Amino acid sequence: SKLTLSVIKADIGGCVGHTNVHPELSRIAREHIEKNKEMLIDYYITHVGDDIQLIVTHRGGIDNEEIHKLAWDMFYACADKAKEMKLYGAGQDLLEDAFSGNIKGMGPGIAEMEFEERRSEPVIIFMADKTEPGAWNLPLYKMFADPFNTIGLVIDPSMHKGFKFEVYDMIDHKYVIFETPEEMYDLLVFIGATGRYCIRKVYTKDNEIAAVSSTQRMNLMAGKYIGKDDPVMIVRCQNGLPAVGEVLEPFAKPHLVAGWMRGSHFGPMIPVSLKEAVPTRFDGPPRVSALAFQLAEGKLIGAQDLFADVAFNNARQKALDIADYMREMGPFEPHRLPLNELEYTTMPGVMEKLQDKWIVED
Ligand code: 13P
Ligand code: 13P
Ligand code: MG
Ligand code: MG
Ligand code: MG
Repeated sequence: SKLTLSVIKADIGGCVGHTNVHPELSRIAREHIEKNKEMLIDYYITHVGDDIQLIVTHRGGIDNEEIHKLAWDMFYACADKAKEMKLYGAGQDLLEDAFSGNIKGMGPGIAEMEFEERRSEPVIIFMADKTEPGAWNLPLYKMFADPFNTIGLVIDPSMHKGFKFEVYDMIDHKYVIFETPEEMYDLLVFIGATGRYCIRKVYTKDNEIAAVSSTQRMNLMAGKYIGKDDPVMIVRCQNGLPAVGEVLEPFAKPHLVAGWMRGSHFGPMIPVSLKEAVPTRFDGPPRVSALAFQLAEGKLIGAQDLFADVAFNNARQKALDIADYMREMGPFEPHRLPLNELEYTTMPGVMEKLQDKWIVED
């Protein structure tokens, strides 16, 4: 039967502030899964910044209630401890009190895919902190549609046909499919607007799943600012799909993403090892880590920390230089997000307080 790979993440309290996960929470997460792993083939728990990621393999399919509940209960157990330790923003991403069938729309982010495990199945789990799902658009486009990034599109006959992109409208909750290379200009009309449209899935032209991202926008769900979504993404590699190095290559050129301090600033996405995934400067800059596995009958083999490679040092330096430059602008756009994006922060409260000072001209 088919294998399901699910990645479910949540911020259930930072230590200190929004920088990191306390080891005690990771311990409780592991303990919870160890006690309740009947349905799982394998699991791996890690964290990037203040977000905990649960990576599981199973045969239950996507949107599986038991798997979602397992993750929810794990985060809930962690949140209890976080509250006791008075960690920062304890229970931050758990928007509901009780689990109701599917973790989607309840706060935690989720990316999952079901597929037939190939003869060799390399997968990469990307995990970001201090940013939102639209951050994956540019790198996904480069991986699957840009021959200057992915030479396989040109020289590998099994990739030469191109790919299909499922683009999700996070405001009107609808989706559309574009095929590349034929419709790449149409695709770019939407995915360039990263605050609204995001690439939710990528398929081969034979409808084989290649990539899945977590796509909710929590602030839109909660109607108020509760941090950024800090999205995750799964990408399968090799054999008709981009090679591992082609999947990583977009991150060698740091792009600007929304997030950073108070979720209200554009900043460069810096690729880092898991050890360096502790954002502190102005609560950032936004960062991404990449953890990779070879799957073997669903077992998670390897756990390679891909951005630990020195070859990403120049990208890191460039991102740091961009961070310095962006920070010089302080509270001014385009470092600060535009007003419509600040709607779900604490900004509207300030605007309201100043309402009466305005003198209207006719
Ligand atoms: P190796 O010879 O190291 O296996 O590399 C193969 C390859 O195609 C790298 O992109
Ligand atoms: P998180 O979404 O990572 O909790 O970040 C929130 C924030 O406001 C950082 O300044
Ligand atoms: Mg936080
Ligand atoms: Mg976070
Ligand atoms: Mg967050």
